[in-house]
Amino acid sequence: MPMTVATSQKLEPNQQSRVPRSKPLQPPPPRQAVRLVMLWQNSVGKKALMAVTGIILSLYVIAHLIGNLQIYADGEKIDSYARLLHSSPALLWVARIILLVTVLTHILAGTVLYFEKRAARPVGYQDRANIQASVPSRTMFWSGILILGFVIFHVANLTLGAAVPGYEEVKPSVNVPAAFHLVWASAIYIVSMVGVGAHLWHGLYNLFNSLGLRNPRFTPALRTGAALVGTLIALGNISIPVAVLTGLLG
Ligand code: HEM
Repeated sequence: MPMTVATSQKLEPNQQSRVPRSKPLQPPPPRQAVRLVMLWQNSVGKKALMAVTGIILSLYVIAHLIGNLQIYADGEKIDSYARLLHSSPALLWVARIILLVTVLTHILAGTVLYFEKRAARPVGYQDRANIQASVPSRTMFWSGILILGFVIFHVANLTLGAAVPGYEEVKPSVNVPAAFHLVWASAIYIVSMVGVGAHLWHGLYNLFNSLGLRNPRFTPALRTGAALVGTLIALGNISIPVAVLTGLLG
């Protein structure tokens, strides 16, 4: 039997039916995994991923510096802080895994973007002097590589105790001065902190652009703020090996 639409109203010859027409077929919303792939497939998505992971890593570096500066108080303060971080191994590992996934996403997106940009312009600029790009912005890829090398060395050094004479578990008040008494180790830290500062300087400045939040009114304040945060983080961390080498600490 043919299907009919029941209606109690009689329609005039030129009157249209009120029965809603069926909507054109729409594809179902993409799942989470598909959304991630879509995000990854265009450079705007990859830049947004870099910005979000960059915010998480910057917050970590700021929090870590605040923790590190406790070394200037009595030794017990930084040791009890380290004990607190280690008091719940499950929580510590969750934090480590989140940090690792964040770092890997940041590195992967950055590397792909770097090579995509290079492939789009295989011949370098003839006259670099005409291009208004700061040193930190032109060296983002290389400062990133430097930071990666540093983090691997640093975890081996101060978390696992490699190359720290008389290393003691969860005792930064002993381990940090012991590590920095070695001039070569201090030199690695100081050079790496310059890389960390430069990377943060440009990264924090660029972050709002990548998220589409750039407002020209705030550009000067943003430029100054990013430079200030990058410089303070570098100097704060550099002060520790310098204090050890000059005998002010440890
Ligand atoms: C002079 C500068 C620094 C000092 C004195 C310092 C000190 C330390 C110490 C003592 C630990 C071991 C914590 C523990 O296991 O109890 C540690 C771990 C770590 N630091 Fe630093 N740090 C410095 C700079 C940095 C910077 C700039 C970064 C990141 C770019 C960083 C990333 C890490 C990471 C990822 C760990 C491993 C955390 C874990 O064990 O899960 N550190 N640091």
